[in-house]
Amino acid sequence: MPAAEQWESYFDAAGILESLGCRHWSGDAVEFGCGYGTFTIPAAQRILGTVYALDIDPLMVAATAARVSQAGLRNVIVEKRDFVMEGCGREPQSASLALLFNILHIEGPVALLKETHRVLRPGGLAGVIHWNYDVRTPRGPPLNIRPRPEQCRAWAEEAGLIWVQDAGLTGAPWHWGMVLKRL
Ligand SMILES: C[S@@+](CC[C@H](N)C(=O)[O-])C[C@H]1O[C@@H](n2cnc3c(N)ncnc32)[C@H](O)[C@@H]1O
Repeated sequence: MPAAEQWESYFDAAGILESLGCRHWSGDAVEFGCGYGTFTIPAAQRILGTVYALDIDPLMVAATAARVSQAGLRNVIVEKRDFVMEGCGREPQSASLALLFNILHIEGPVALLKETHRVLRPGGLAGVIHWNYDVRTPRGPPLNIRPRPEQCRAWAEEAGLIWVQDAGLTGAPWHWGMVLKRL
């Protein structure tokens, strides 16, 4: 990850959340890989329940926790956790929203999507974004591991999730977005 300021110059996090339908959201959310808290803060400001912001990297956990505190938000729990090895730690069907932002290039994306399916309540949604499959993007994982939307959709369906729509993202020239659902 580049420095937070640089990372966050590539997209408008609030615009992305709104494009994915995340506004006045009821219920809890699980954020898989919160990084600097780029999406955690605007998500928590749009969600009535609690945002469980998870990351394996203690520096990212500390950065997100500091921002949560600075923003005076009381509906965020930031946790250092390896969700690949340990799962997200939430009860089955306990979340109404999952955030999978710039994360599906990891090894074992289907397992992560199965964990997403497990934690979502019926009717719950997952928002996915990732860097465009394009060498001209200013950042992003190497193209050989960078997933395209159609690949993510196929993985999601293998995990039992339903594709709802591809979403045009406001303020995100380098990213694509997708909404998935648990039936
Ligand atoms: C590319 S960053 C994206 C951060 C954030 N979602 C965003 O878009 O701004 C991916 C984040 O996922 C975290 N991560 C990767 N694998 C993980 C795992 N197995 N468990 C928890 N966090 C993980 C990394 O530490 C990193 O902070």
